[in-house]
This record gives sequence, C-alpha cells and structure tokens, in this order.
Amino acid sequence: MKNPDHVRGIISSIKKDGVNKLQVISDFDMTLSRFGWNGRRCPTSHNILDNSQVITEEGKKQLKDLLHYYYPIEIDPNRTLEEKCPLMVEWWTRAHDLLSQQKILKGDIAQIVKESEVMLRDGFNEFFDQLHKNNVPLFIFSAGVGDILEEIIRQANVFHPNINVVSNYMDFDDDGILRGFKRPLIHTYNKNNTVLNNTEYFQQLSTKTSIILLGDSMGDLTMSDGVTNVKNILKIGFLNDKVEEHRGKYLESYDIVLERDETLDVVNGILRYTFTET
Ligand code: TMP
Ligand code: MG
Repeated sequence: MKNPDHVRGIISSIKKDGVNKLQVISDFDMTLSRFGWNGRRCPTSHNILDNSQVITEEGKKQLKDLLHYYYPIEIDPNRTLEEKCPLMVEWWTRAHDLLSQQKILKGDIAQIVKESEVMLRDGFNEFFDQLHKNNVPLFIFSAGVGDILEEIIRQANVFHPNINVVSNYMDFDDDGILRGFKRPLIHTYNKNNTVLNNTEYFQQLSTKTSIILLGDSMGDLTMSDGVTNVKNILKIGFLNDKVEEHRGKYLESYDIVLERDETLDVVNGILRYTFTET
C-alpha cells in the first residue's frame, strides 16, 4: 500500500455505510483465476481454447505466435494507452478470426473447460459464497471469453444469481458451430462505459455507492467508470508478472497491491470485516 491510512479510511467507510451499499466489480482472467500453479502459468479463458484438442496444430501455432507478439505490448509500462489500444484490437480480432475457423462446437465447451488447467484463486469459495449470502452484486467485466469463464464458474459451483458478466461472447450458427464473436469487442484497454451497451446495470445499482474493484491490469482500473454514484472505492490489484518493473505504477493506481499472491485471502478478510456486525 502506498497510503495505509487512506486504505484504513476507505474500509471503515465501506463498513460504516453497510453491506446494502456495497457492490464488487472484478476482472476475471488472472484476477479471479490463478496466474500460476506449481511454477507453471495457468491459462486465460482464451488460452483454454487455444490449448484444447479441438484446435489444429497449425491453429495452435498461429495463436501462440499472436500471444508472444502482443502480450509483451499489453503489459509494456513504457507504451501509452493510445499506442496500445489499436494493437489490442488487432490481437483480439486476429485471435477471434483464427478461433472462428476452427469449427468449435458449443456442445464441446464444458468438456474443453473440464480438461483445461484453469484454476480459480485459493479462497474462491469463500469469496463467491460471502457475496452471495450477503446479497452483494458481483459484476465480472472481462476481456476474455464469456462462454468459457461462465463455464469455469459453473463447474466450480459458484455461479450464484448475484453475478452479472460482461465479456466477449461466442456466436454459434444454427448447427452450434462457432462462426464469430458478438460485439462489442472487449479488450484489455476498453473496459469502461464505451462497451457497456447502456449503463442500465449500474443505474439499477445506483444505491450501491461503495465499491470494491479487483483487477490485475492497468486497464482494469476503468471498469467502474459507469457507476453513477461512487462514495467509497477500494481498488485492489494483483501484480502477477514483472513485479519489480510494475510496482511503482501499480502502487500509484491501486490502493492495495498484492504481489505474486495466488489467493483471495486479503479480499476475503476485508469482506469478512465488512460483513461482521459490531
Ligand atoms: P482481462 O483479464 O483483462 O479480461 O483480459 C484477458 C486476457 O486475455 C488478457 O490479459 C490477454 C489475454 N488474451 C490471451 O491470453 N489470448 C488471446 O488470444 C487474447 C486475445 C487475449
Ligand atoms: Mg486480467
């Protein structure tokens, strides 16, 4: 934390205003899902498709080449957003085009997720269950693949009715074969109002003036831009990769920065404190 007193102040205000005023806004890939396990990288929702048996060897190679070219650009602290945005659109468009040529079946999604190495962060059960029990809305705003991340949450038995997802959804034809992705395209750096069809979701939640925001990328900081009334906002950032290089920027932007922490323990602790009646 750059400013522990500030963090203490926000958490006290969130608790004082009460659970009825709280909403949680979270990224999915590498925020709710793990970045690594046992020294290996865990897959993003896109990688789950890329690595699956339904993709040809040639397709896999092309998708990996895209990742190796564009991922360093995505996380490069020395490039501006203006530089990155068009390149991210290019990455997502090329990846989605390649995936759409692979004849992926809607009916195969559950099996593809089951066979993948994806893992939610330790403590996910408590996280999802606490929010559900306390009727706290959870908005998952993801530049990943909506169908895949929903399936991950479903298979983990934590897809509760307090969850709303905005993400890139697959578009299947009448035979259930992937033919493209629905619009608008969401990439790392347009996670803001511009891709929320309307701000209806946040308008409905206009009384939820306390926000806990969870992300792992600098692009996740704008996920709450559509919230109509913000009184307290606590931004928690997972710093997964190139920690030394990114520490300064993350500490400037996130109230709490969790370095190489594969758990939701800090978030769960704050929620537990908020929910405890004193
Ligand atoms: P998000 O975590 O901000 O929702 O972003 C999704 C992540 O997906 C982002 O870090 C880049 C990654 N990604 C892939 O791994 N493969 C791909 O083909 C694409 C387009 C994105
Ligand atoms: Mg992420």
